[in-house]
Amino acid sequence: MLTGCALICVWPTAGAQSARLEPLPAPATVKPALAKLGWHLFFEPRLSGDGSRSCASCHLPSRAYGGDSDLSRGYNGTEYFRNAPGLMSVRLKTRLMWDGRLDGADLPTAVRDMVTEAHFMNADGRLIQERIRQIPELLALWRDAFGAQSQPYGPQIFVAIGEFLKTLDGGETMVDRALRGDRTALPSQAREGMALFSGKGQCVRCHSGALGTDGKAYRLGVPENPAIADEPLRMITLLRHHATMGVPNYMAERKDLGSYVVSKQAADRGRFVTPALRGLTHTGPYMHNGLFATLEEVVAFHDQGGGPGSELRPLGLSVRERAALVAFLRAWSAPLQVAVEPPAYDYWSAGVAR
Ligand code: HEC
Ligand code: HEC
Repeated sequence: MLTGCALICVWPTAGAQSARLEPLPAPATVKPALAKLGWHLFFEPRLSGDGSRSCASCHLPSRAYGGDSDLSRGYNGTEYFRNAPGLMSVRLKTRLMWDGRLDGADLPTAVRDMVTEAHFMNADGRLIQERIRQIPELLALWRDAFGAQSQPYGPQIFVAIGEFLKTLDGGETMVDRALRGDRTALPSQAREGMALFSGKGQCVRCHSGALGTDGKAYRLGVPENPAIADEPLRMITLLRHHATMGVPNYMAERKDLGSYVVSKQAADRGRFVTPALRGLTHTGPYMHNGLFATLEEVVAFHDQGGGPGSELRPLGLSVRERAALVAFLRAWSAPLQVAVEPPAYDYWSAGVAR
């Protein structure tokens, strides 16, 4: 319980007293030819079963690699039931996906799931390795990365895209400069927000480190997005996810169970992994189900102590304090260099066969 909480509150879990924000670490060391191949593949629609979408269809560069709608679209004939997260500095995450079902140290497995799951890209390693073999430009990039005699091979496709993902850092923001000790880096309102973030707002208990996430899951009681119950295609994708993850009696579980599907522990029902806070200006709408359109709504929701079953407590922030927190959150996107362009040539207009 958070009782007797004055200006600075201490979260009653192990290690939390040391929770703090950190500036962006040095860029990842990547193999340039491999990352270049991954960049091309990220924008390549022929990595999906019917050639209709690429990674960039759902992770838009102009949106810090997040989606452009509250709930992500799905592969043709499906719809998804969660918001597509931004991918800035995704290399630093310890857990991946809103429910934390994948290990952050293993980006290729996340890429594989994106390519092969029926509701994302519905392709198959053997199919796409064959396609790459037949596209001269991609085959040339492949051989630059893997050697002159090499042949495209499914698992290495996922490794190449994972290598590209490691390059998505966005550079140093105002917040990074402030965290490195530059007292003039932040305008005064954002500076006030930064103090509230670690003080009265208690945000840093969960939003810590270089990304603003501790990689753990909490229940904030975010209301259901009504589109999931209203649209059968979203509901059956949710039920299929529950079935795939081995949830008992899954046909009766018609709400997003969050991390429960991973641990099967009752306490994890409705818990979602603390999201990273870099690039937020571009990645809205927010929360696992895209329910809040603005950062003002998100901060007000935290301030009121969340929704039913929430693990937050009301904060009693003033209007001014809420605005300062929003200014601080925005400073984490200022400036953010997200414009990684798609590869310059266009296979489609060049008339290369699919
Ligand atoms: C049809 C839309 C769609 C496509 C296409 C898609 N993604 Fe995703 N991606 C999502 C959604 C939605 C999530 C969150 C899923 C969840 O939490 O259940 C996600 C999650 C991720 C994550 C984990 C991010 C995090 O912060 O946990 C990574 C990494 C990722 N995608 C990379 C890719 C790559 C690489 C491709 C192409 C091979 C791709 N995605 C294609 C919608 C898509
Ligand atoms: C108990 C842990 C915890 C604390 C404390 C906390 N948050 Fe969160 N925050 C979360 C979780 C978990 C989510 C995602 C919830 C969901 O989608 O169901 C979230 C979501 C957010 C988002 C939306 C990000 C996105 O990409 O959708 C923002 C912004 C945010 N929090 C800011 C704050 C601020 C500002 C504070 C302090 C006033 C704060 N948080 C305190 C755990 C926490």
